[in-house]
Amino acid sequence: MSAHPIAVTGASGQVARALQRAGARRASNLVVAGRPVIDVASHASVKRVLDGIAPGIVINAAAYNAVDDAERDEAAAFRINRDGPHYLAKWCAANGVPLIHISTGHVFDGSNPLPYRETDACCPANAFGRSKAAGEDAIRDVLAHHVIVRTGWVYSTDGRNFLKSMLQSAREREIIDVIADQYGTPTSADDIAAALLDICDVLLRDDGCRLYGTYHLAATGETTWYGFAKQIYSVVAYEARKAPRVEPILTERSSAPANRPKHAVLDTTKMRNAFGLVLPPWQHSVAACVRQMLAKESGFKANQPDEIRERRVASTTKVA
Ligand SMILES: NC(=O)c1ccc[n+]([C@@H]2O[C@H](COP(=O)([O-])OP(=O)(O)OC[C@H]3O[C@@H](n4cnc5c(N)ncnc54)[C@H](OP(=O)(O)O)[C@@H]3O)[C@@H](O)[C@H]2O)c1
Repeated sequence: MSAHPIAVTGASGQVARALQRAGARRASNLVVAGRPVIDVASHASVKRVLDGIAPGIVINAAAYNAVDDAERDEAAAFRINRDGPHYLAKWCAANGVPLIHISTGHVFDGSNPLPYRETDACCPANAFGRSKAAGEDAIRDVLAHHVIVRTGWVYSTDGRNFLKSMLQSAREREIIDVIADQYGTPTSADDIAAALLDICDVLLRDDGCRLYGTYHLAATGETTWYGFAKQIYSVVAYEARKAPRVEPILTERSSAPANRPKHAVLDTTKMRNAFGLVLPPWQHSVAACVRQMLAKESGFKANQPDEIRERRVASTTKVA
C-alpha cells in the first residue's frame, strides 16, 4: 500500500460513498472529503485541502449532476464540472500526482447507434454534457498523468437515482410510464468503486504510467430506461412485493428540459484491454441493489448481496 492516501472528492455522492465502502473492505488508505471541507470550484480550497492530505492519487467524484438544472444555470455547471477538475489537475501537476476523474456518456449526443469509443469526437447535446466535456479538456490541458473514466446511468443504495425513484414510485402508483427509446447501461456505483480502486493499484505500480488516458467503464450489456425499470420490478415481484405495471413511452412524451442522448452505450473494450476490468452484466448488479434496498426497508433478509457482488466482481472483473 502507498504511504500516501488516495484522496476522494464528493464525499456524500454515490460513487464516493461506494468508494468508502470498497476502501474499508480492502483496507485501502482513503481520505474522502466533501463540502464544506473542500469546494472543488475554489482553487484556494482545492490547494489547502490537498496540501493537507498529501495524497498519492486523487479521485474526483464531485460533480454538478443536475442535468436539467444545468440548462438554466450552465455557469454553475461549468464552475464545478470544468473549473473543479482544472484546479485539481493543476494541483496534481504541481505535485506529481495522478488524477482519476469521472466523466459521462453525455459528452456524446447519442446519435450514433453503435457503442461509443474513446476515440469518437465529443459532441454534447446539453449544457451538462458541455460542462463535463470542458472538464475533461481542462484536465488534458495541464496534466498528462490522468485517467478519465466515462460512465453512465449510475445507481446505488445512496443518493438520488433512477432505481430509487422506481422503488419509491412502486409504493405510490399502479402504472408507471418509462422512456423506451433511450439506450444506455445501468451501472452500479459499487462496481465503479471496485474498478476505480483496481485502477489505483495499477497506477501505483512502476509501469502504471503507460496507461494514462480516457476510458469507458460500464456494466456489461445495454437496455432502455423501460428495460431498467422492468428489471427493477421483476426483482420486486420475485421478492413477493407489489410491483406496478410499466408502460413504454417515447422521449417526445417527456417534459425534461435537457436533451438526453438517445444512444448512450459505451464501448468498454479499451478498459478491458488496458486494465483487465469487465463489470458484471447490468441485470445482476441491479438485482443485488434492489434486494439491498428491500432489505433496508423492512428487515427482509436479502441474500447477502455484498458478498455475492464481491464474489462475482472478483471472478469476472479480471480478464486474462
Ligand atoms: N449519476 C449518474 O448517473 C452519473 C452518470 C455518468 C457519470 N457520472 C459521474 O460520476 C461522478 C460521480 O457521480 P455521483 O452519481 O456519485 O454524483 P452525486 O451522487 O451527484 O454526488 C456528487 C457529489 O459532488 C459533490 N459536489 C458538488 N459540487 C461540489 C463542489 N463544488 N465541491 C465539492 N463537492 C461538490 C456533491 O456534494 P453535495 O452533497 O454537497 O452537493 C455530491 O456529494 C460524477 O463525476 C458524475 O458526473 C454520474
